Amino acid sequence: MSNNNSNDRLIIFDTTLRDGEQSPGASMTMDEKVRIAQHLEKMRVDIIEAGFPIASVGDFESVKAVATAIKDSTICGLARALDKDIERAGEALKPANSSRIHTFIATSPIHMKEKLRMQPDDVLAQAVAAVKKARQFTDNVEFSPEDAGRSELDFLCKVVEATIDAGATTINIPDTVGYNIPHQFGELVKQLIERVPNSDKAIFSVHCHNDLGLAVGNSLASVLNGARQVECTINGLGERAGNAALEEIVMAIRTRQDVFSCDTNIDTTMIVPTSRLVSSVTGFPVQPNKAIVGKNAFAHESGIHQDGVLKSRETYEIMRAQDVGWSDNKIVLGKHSGRSALRARLEEIGIKLEGEEALNAAFSRFKDVADRKHEIFDEDLVAIASESQAALEHTRYHLVSSWVCSETGETPHAKVTLKVDGEEVSAEADGGGSVDAVFSAIKKIVTDHGTLELYSVNAITSGTDAQGEVSVKLEKAGRQVYGSGADPDIVIASANAYLDALNKLVLATDREHPQHGV
Ligand code: KIV
Ligand code: ZN
Repeated sequence: MSNNNSNDRLIIFDTTLRDGEQSPGASMTMDEKVRIAQHLEKMRVDIIEAGFPIASVGDFESVKAVATAIKDSTICGLARALDKDIERAGEALKPANSSRIHTFIATSPIHMKEKLRMQPDDVLAQAVAAVKKARQFTDNVEFSPEDAGRSELDFLCKVVEATIDAGATTINIPDTVGYNIPHQFGELVKQLIERVPNSDKAIFSVHCHNDLGLAVGNSLASVLNGARQVECTINGLGERAGNAALEEIVMAIRTRQDVFSCDTNIDTTMIVPTSRLVSSVTGFPVQPNKAIVGKNAFAHESGIHQDGVLKSRETYEIMRAQDVGWSDNKIVLGKHSGRSALRARLEEIGIKLEGEEALNAAFSRFKDVADRKHEIFDEDLVAIASESQAALEHTRYHLVSSWVCSETGETPHAKVTLKVDGEEVSAEADGGGSVDAVFSAIKKIVTDHGTLELYSVNAITSGTDAQGEVSVKLEKAGRQVYGSGADPDIVIASANAYLDALNKLVLATDREHPQHGV
């Protein structure tokens, strides 16, 4: 393997489907994970961490489904440094064209003493045994000393050297709790590469959390110091404050080629469509001022800025919006567009429809939206594909129809018909507003509904006929789920978002968490 420092390629390891899914409420179904993985593949992400197979049967099946569907990216499964985890990961990854097992154990004094209750020498031995075990399934093995950012350097060097000797081909240095500061974390990576005698036999990677808002800064500092893989997620999704955002890492490296001596293989035009898909699947809205993918990232409000951009774009723009996948609001399809035009455009923006049933569902949804909204943009198509796929999936509650009467001075009244496990059920209710009345009617049918903690509406495109995208968050017995729905009619979008969250609430909930236990 070539020395990390001379390598001009930065490997992008996306963990949206694993660490991203650890965001409270961001659970995804197997079909949703496959859809996101297909976007990541089209984006040319090198490695997709598809899940933690031992966590639950659902996680195992999802990793297997992603490993089956994806051909161009390497598929990775997470495993604690335990035989049973590694065997399960190896099994789930069997269908992959190219697979990686990522095994880890904590090395910081606090984790070893308080969480693992193990002596450092035993941790070292277990790390080595885990890497050797993983090598029985694949020759592509990643090892992470969890909480490396708070580990003692001498011990970390020992663990890294021993795991490389045992066969690890990637050493990932996690700042698990987001504690580090860029110059310090960069120095840690530099020290490891310099001090570990066999460091040239592995790629050094980093995995930074955003508790102090420094995940991207820490990752970039590490790249400047020799790291050649970065672990990141779309929209910075992830445990607690999240992980380093893929879009920010990739665009910082691409935009500042004068500073970085490496680049990624990412097709940056896939960034915005993938960000939208992840947001709509998880129900986590993207904040308007989010770098690269926020609605305002390329908007110029001040007159002086607008004037400058009109005279010369570079006066206030360091990247081109089109380069990261913002469409210039061109109408891409209209109500007379046919099935093949729809399929072709969806494929161009990275959405593959599997089979006739999926195309029919998307086309019927497209016609429905196009009847009510005459201009269809790429942003609308992402929502249309997402809604039609969700309807095809085997979920428990589906909206059949809703009717709302809302008149000045009168109490809004709604009638809702749902399909519940295939049977039609109707209910009526009053509410403080139209959406409240619809939610109250749904609650009469779905009595096990948790508490509504958040309701937010965004317009997908501009204009009064824009599709409204609604996100809701429900809480039940300490568990949070998000749901999303899109439609030109905000009341229908709201009903769909509510049902999406209710469907997630009934999904099996028992799963292990990678950072709990050994
Ligand atoms: O944050 C972390 O330490 C992790 C490891 C499993 C790499 O997610
Ligand atoms: Zn993590």
